[in-house]
Order: sequence, then C-alpha cells, then structure tokens
Amino acid sequence: MRRRSIPTDYTRNALARNHPDRVTRAGNAGHRFPVVVSTLSPPSDRAELDLSDLSLWADGPPHDTFRRLRESDPLHWSELGDFPDEGGFWSVVRFEDIATVGRDHETYSSQRSIILVDHLAAEPGAPDPIDISANMMITQDPPRHDRLKALVQRAFTPKRAVEHTERMREIINLVWDRALERNPDGHLDLVQDVGVYVPSMVIGDMLGAPREDADRLVDWTNRTTAFEDPRMVPDLDDVWRALEEFIPYVNEMVSEREAHPTDDLTTAFIEAEVDGERLSHEEVLMFFFLLMVAGNDSTRSVFTSGMKSLLDDPEQMDLVRSGAVPLEQVVEEFIRYHPAFAYMRRTATRDAELAGKRVRAGDKLALWYVSGNRDATVFDDPDRFDVRCTPNPHQGFGGGGRHFCLGAGLARLELKLWIEETLRRFGSIELAGDSERVSSTFLNQCRSIPVAVQPT
Ligand code: HEM
Repeated sequence: MRRRSIPTDYTRNALARNHPDRVTRAGNAGHRFPVVVSTLSPPSDRAELDLSDLSLWADGPPHDTFRRLRESDPLHWSELGDFPDEGGFWSVVRFEDIATVGRDHETYSSQRSIILVDHLAAEPGAPDPIDISANMMITQDPPRHDRLKALVQRAFTPKRAVEHTERMREIINLVWDRALERNPDGHLDLVQDVGVYVPSMVIGDMLGAPREDADRLVDWTNRTTAFEDPRMVPDLDDVWRALEEFIPYVNEMVSEREAHPTDDLTTAFIEAEVDGERLSHEEVLMFFFLLMVAGNDSTRSVFTSGMKSLLDDPEQMDLVRSGAVPLEQVVEEFIRYHPAFAYMRRTATRDAELAGKRVRAGDKLALWYVSGNRDATVFDDPDRFDVRCTPNPHQGFGGGGRHFCLGAGLARLELKLWIEETLRRFGSIELAGDSERVSSTFLNQCRSIPVAVQPT
C-alpha cells in the first residue's frame, strides 16, 4: 500500500493548536501530566474519596466502595487527584441515575472527552491526543452526532456483521493456531497471545486492512487507550507518536477506497448517504479510527475476563459446556460482570437536579457502568458471576442513550463465536498463574492471564 508521510488535516490542526492556559504539574505513576487552569467553581459538596485514584483499582474495580456509594452517597463529588486543576467530577453510581444521564443529552453533553481529563498533552504546547478524539462521533452531541450515527448505521448494519460469521470463525482459529505454534506446550497468555489479536483482526478485516497489519493496529490502539499504565505507555508522548503513525495509515486507506471502491466497510462508509449527505474524508477517517479503538479493547477485555470467571468456577463452566445455558446469555453475563469501560463521562450543560443534589453547568460526571451493573435494585445477587442471570439489562454497552454502542451486535456475535470455538477446540483449559490488571480507571481489563490448554 502507498504510504503518505504528510499528516492529515486533523493532525495538522492539532499540531498547530496551542493551549495558552496550560501549565505543567506533577504527574502520577511515572507520567508527566498537563493541567488546565479550571474556570469552574467546584461544588460545595466534597469528600475525601477520589474514585479516580489508581491505587483503589489495583485489584480491579473497587466494588465495595461502589456498593457503599449506591447505598448512601449516590452522587459523590471528588477532585481529580492526579489532575488537580482539571476540576473535579461527580460519580454517578446507581443504575437508574446512569440511565437518566445517558438519555438526557441536552443536559449532559458528550462533547470534548469521554474520559475525565480534557487535555492529555505530554507538556505545555505539545500536541494533545484529545484534540483528535474530540472529533469522533462518540464525543459529539446532536445534531452532529445524529447525522454521523445515521450515516454510519447505514453502512454498519447487523446484517453486515452476520455476513462475517465464517470469517470471524476463521480469524479466531487462526489466532489460536498461531498461539499454539508459539507455545506448543499449551501454556500461554490468554490476553497477549490470543485476546489482543482477534478483535483487531475482525474489525480490521471488515474495514479492509490487510491481515499482516494486525500487529501494528494492536500496538497503535493499545498505546492510545492505555495511557494511564506506564508499563504500556511509558511516556505520554507515546500516545501522540502512535497517532502520528496511525492517522496517516488510515488516511491512506480511505484515499485508496475513494479512488478504488471495494466491498469493505470503509467503502461502505464513504458511500453511505442519508438525505443526499455523505461523510467527509475526515469523518470517514475519524470513524475508522474510532472503530479500531472502541472495538478492540472492549471485546478483548470482555472475552478474557469472562473466560477467567468461567475458569474460576467449574460449576459455571459445566453450565456452559453442557449447553444448559445458551451462549447468547453467557455473553450478556460476561459483559455485565466485566464491562469493558468502567465509565464514560458526560459534562453538564446547565444546572440540574440529580439523585437529590445540584449539578452545575460545566460539571463533569463519570457514569460508572461497573457500578450500575451491580446495582441490587436491578440484579439479584449482583456480585455473583452467574451465566443463568436473566433478564440481564446490563449497562455494559452504555445506559441506553444516543451513544449506545454501535458495535453491540458485532461484539455479541464475535464473543459468542469466540467462546464456542475456544471450548470446542480445548477439552481442558486451566488457569496457570496469577493474572495482572491494566492499571486504569477507564479500561476494565487484564493485561495478562496465564492459562494451560489441551486440545480436545
Ligand atoms: C463487548 C464489547 C463492547 C463493549 C462492552 C462496548 C461498550 C461501549 C460503550 C460503553 C459505549 C459508550 C456508550 C455510552 O456512553 O452511552 C460504546 C460506544 C461505541 N462503541 Fe462499543 N463496545 C463494545 C464493542 C464495540 C465494537 C466491536 C465496536 C465496533 C467495531 C464498537 C463501536 C462503538 C462505537 C462507534 C461507539 C460510539 C457510539 C456513539 O457515540 O453513538 N464497540 N461502546
């Protein structure tokens, strides 16, 4: 494929952009973080507990803390400890409140950022990855969001995902074959040897990226999302460096499809039309990028963490292997128990009442899906992983508002096939060591799960 070295308009604009109000402060976990002088006056309600404190997340989401908050402090204010001048945030922890905020885009905006910080440049004046992500559909409000979503839904239909069923199976088996070639004794890492490859190859394949580019796509998406973990992103500059390689790559692909249409998803985005309108070149580019990022971490983390829960509990594994519980239902419990994104952020556009408190215009809110999914007013015995859980109206794909996950149909099918093929191939799968988590308050995932597999 022809490679262009010039950056796209987005890259150029972002590179040119400066933030005069930015000053550098101390960071956390080995990173240097930028800080923006806040113009907001923080709400008067304050407490010590800061849910963005990474030390609370060392062993996974702090579920006991979330339970306590759901019971006695359902809208909790805290400062952003590692970003002291970014302004604090509200923690929305009850299922009902998460749904209320998610559905009210007029009061609670998605603009600028889905994470709690508005700026992520390595130092003052340096290019800021959030300037790029701020152009994606997930960080837009209606009417722009509605227009973009209508256009991409035209191309990204559930039927298109179903048409890929056999290719998905093929990719899943190819990845398992390669993992066994590298680890002939069957001792391997479920995340690094298997998990990271399947979703990026599936979405890359649909979008038309060559399979041999899978490693690069995995590397770029990892570096853009795991920014809180210095083991994966030693320096915040790495986030930008990944974008500098990723964006020209996608730009190239989109330009090629514009000149030579094929039957892939990238071409379908270019050709999608609603009321005579189409996506611009930059919008297709941003969309490709969003799909790679949103579809990767998510499906991988749900599969690997869900499998770990099955391996931890032989009774649950029997229910699945025996077919007593349909795989579609198993998938829903994987997502409820291990939502891939711990939260998504919204920003209040006006003063409002929520959970008996006053939210002010400009306040940030974290919709903690990890908490909503364990709300005892909705789920019986919510802290127990149980594939028999039905109905299962979890919030793993969002609280049901306009930003509800576009890839939910694809993810459900992919997860079902992935579990099915994995259990079919291996009569025995056992945990073979301690797992390690990604250090993050946003990504709810493991970076390593050692297992031992034996072919059936
Ligand atoms: C199990 C896997 C997945 C999970 C748990 C998941 C979860 C989510 C969540 C929580 C949101 C935000 C919802 C909100 O804040 O209201 C979202 C949005 C989105 N997801 Fe997924 N996702 C998954 C797989 C995928 C896949 C495979 C794709 C595509 C390849 C994808 C594409 C998107 C897009 C484009 C959005 C933005 C939608 C919008 O702004 O309207 N996701 N996803």
